[in-house]
Amino acid sequence: METSRAWWRSAVVYQIYVRSFADGNGDGTGDIAGMRSRLPYLERLGIDAIWVNPWYRSPLLDGGYDVADYREINDRFGTTVEAEAFIADARSHGIRVLVDLVPNHTSWDHVWFRAALAAAPGSDERARYHFVDGRGADGELPPNDWQSVFGGAAWTRVPDGQWYLHLFDESQPDVNWDHPDVVDEFEAVMRFWLDRGAAGFRIDVAHGLVKAPGYPDAGTATNDGRGQPESLPYYDRDEIHPIVRRWRRVLDEYDGDRMMVAEAWVDASRRPLYLRPDEYHQAFDFDLLTATWDAADFASIITASVASAEAVGSEPTWVLSNHDVVRHATRYGLPNEVEPGLWLLDGDRGLLDEARGTRRARAAAMVTFALPGSAYVYQGDELGLPEAWDLPLDVLQDPIWHDSDHTVKGRDGCRVPIPWEPTGESLGFGSSGAWLPQPPEYAPLAAAAQETDPDSTLELYRAALALRRARLADEFGFELIDRGPNVLAFRRGDALTSVTNMGDDAVALPGGEVLLSSGPLVDGGLPPDTTVWLVS
Ligand code: GLC
Repeated sequence: METSRAWWRSAVVYQIYVRSFADGNGDGTGDIAGMRSRLPYLERLGIDAIWVNPWYRSPLLDGGYDVADYREINDRFGTTVEAEAFIADARSHGIRVLVDLVPNHTSWDHVWFRAALAAAPGSDERARYHFVDGRGADGELPPNDWQSVFGGAAWTRVPDGQWYLHLFDESQPDVNWDHPDVVDEFEAVMRFWLDRGAAGFRIDVAHGLVKAPGYPDAGTATNDGRGQPESLPYYDRDEIHPIVRRWRRVLDEYDGDRMMVAEAWVDASRRPLYLRPDEYHQAFDFDLLTATWDAADFASIITASVASAEAVGSEPTWVLSNHDVVRHATRYGLPNEVEPGLWLLDGDRGLLDEARGTRRARAAAMVTFALPGSAYVYQGDELGLPEAWDLPLDVLQDPIWHDSDHTVKGRDGCRVPIPWEPTGESLGFGSSGAWLPQPPEYAPLAAAAQETDPDSTLELYRAALALRRARLADEFGFELIDRGPNVLAFRRGDALTSVTNMGDDAVALPGGEVLLSSGPLVDGGLPPDTTVWLVS
């Protein structure tokens, strides 16, 4: 049961993409040893929790979102014993750990899928997945028109002629949530990690899981992985919610306010369903992540999210970047008219204004830290890292590149290993190379280079998170203030007022004592692309 003012309600959660965070054993891939060594850095940053991207045994064909064993750590990252020690170590640094759970699909290397392939059509082993006969005279056509998020048909044929469903890569077969083994297994996996001290879960593809009976065609609706206002027969189905309620009961058996956050790419009007008191604690607000730099858009998204979370007793959950989208320092450096897409950029780099992107990224981070609710920080955001735009095509590993027949580059540009030092091989990421090459612009942004610079993004994050902790730990109201067009301003009771100039010209600085600003203030004015926090 939730105690009063549970920790997650105002938590700042730091997302670790294990492969790219820190390489402790020098094999070019990040690992748990590296993560443990950086816990003092994370404590100093001032975060409350870590969400660890999948660290399980996996062929890593989708970066670990293809899980072969939910109870075992990938041997490239460490061992299950080390994972448990990491959770305990983090706790001694005052940091909780959320584990990433992937319940929509397994890897094709999972023991269940191997058994399904070895078993006959109609068997119980096959019934744990979606194996279906094809259309056409000999079943040579896929069972329906469903498309994979990554490109191509969502069905792959096996030698005996049946087809299996994969909403993502063919190495990620969707499991069948009507099968009792699936229900029982994921509850058991939850208990496994809760027993090892996990504070809860980030639930992958929470809008997936259940598919419409009879697998009807999707028709004209496309599967781009984003929120779908029109209903697709495999997303956001009402039958998802009883599953979520079972998970919630498992979490509630444990003490310590364990929680779960949904990666639900659903229309904003549907998000509150996932946040009902007996369902998820949080669901990522991807509306702000997909918004362009516009004060009116930001204001209406924020108002709607605050109201809809409050209506169901939850909290808004802000996200600017993650391992699936173009880093926001780059998104914000593009003109608003350019639709950057969520995935790696193909467009004209000449349109990019890097300095503006950095200014806006800093200003936006301060907005999310001042808002009510919880904020998620993707590793490297605190360094102001841009997207690695020009990765050579031959290093790309995202399955999107392959599945789209090399037409969409995918998400590797936001997954490049973190620069810890300004010099040296792999910029302090590890003692040898890095699994993806770091672009030259990462060297001056290395954590060690920013440590000593009071104007750095790292110091801004530290200062903002310390102020947030000191001033916004309790509940405060939220009220938008009208400071004219192109200005996003809101008050958090007496705790602080946040003002962001999202226009092209400087605006007058409101009265009050300045606590922090994301950039220099000029002659008593608030320059464009700048956020200031004040108290009266
Ligand atoms: C989620 C993950 C993404 C992964 C996909 C399939 O959207 O965030 O990285 O590729 O699910 O598991």
